Amino acid sequence: MQKRKKGLVIAIDGPSGAGKSTVARVLAERLGYTYIDTGALYRAIGWKARQEGIDPADEQAMERLCMEIDVSLANTDGDPGIYVDNQDVSRAIRTPEMGMMASAVSKSPAVRARLLDVQRELGAGGGVVMDGRDIGTVIFPDADVKFYLDASAEERGRRRYRELKDAGLAVDLATITGEILERDHQDSGRDIAPLSRAADALPVDSSRLSIEDVVIGMLAEVAKRREEK
Ligand code: DC
Repeated sequence: MQKRKKGLVIAIDGPSGAGKSTVARVLAERLGYTYIDTGALYRAIGWKARQEGIDPADEQAMERLCMEIDVSLANTDGDPGIYVDNQDVSRAIRTPEMGMMASAVSKSPAVRARLLDVQRELGAGGGVVMDGRDIGTVIFPDADVKFYLDASAEERGRRRYRELKDAGLAVDLATITGEILERDHQDSGRDIAPLSRAADALPVDSSRLSIEDVVIGMLAEVAKRREEK
């Protein structure tokens, strides 16, 4: 049975470090919506692959992992928690290594098929802001509002560096920027659901904008779309 929609489905796609998660979280809060961090799902699968010593390129092993894994998102006061087989991995998945693992496992057809259903289920009721790489193109091609958030690679590197440093991780700027570029390359170059801007997504360049400026622009767009409906 189809759930009755409580609100809009808002998709925010874009490359790593563009500020998607920060902006999506604030936007969801202002609208009273649920924030869904789809990258966390890929990170969770990457985490489990690492735990089990599975090579992300070994498709048979990835298929098996996808059949066995129980991955869920739980929102507590707007703070998304992520669980793998009932273990809270919310912090463990936030390392640069898990970002790279997530990008590697996200190429797997089994992983993408498994998470397609999970993500559609999470957004089915509406009233969600989902951020990722293929939300507006593949997961919810009929999303009510779509944004494509980008920023220069230098700025994205600086932001990610600050974020990780603030979280107490020992990181250096050149390495982080290099990883961002490598992930851009992997995420845009993969065969299935590569990172790309949906034709009807509004492009937003956040290089010189504050979080608040980006959110205000997005809220105006959401209000416009609501009026049109
Ligand atoms: O947004 P993030 O950095 O947490 O995402 C980690 C990786 O997961 C990203 O490099 C590619 C993959 N990903 C994806 O393929 N599709 C999504 N919708 C979200 C993330």
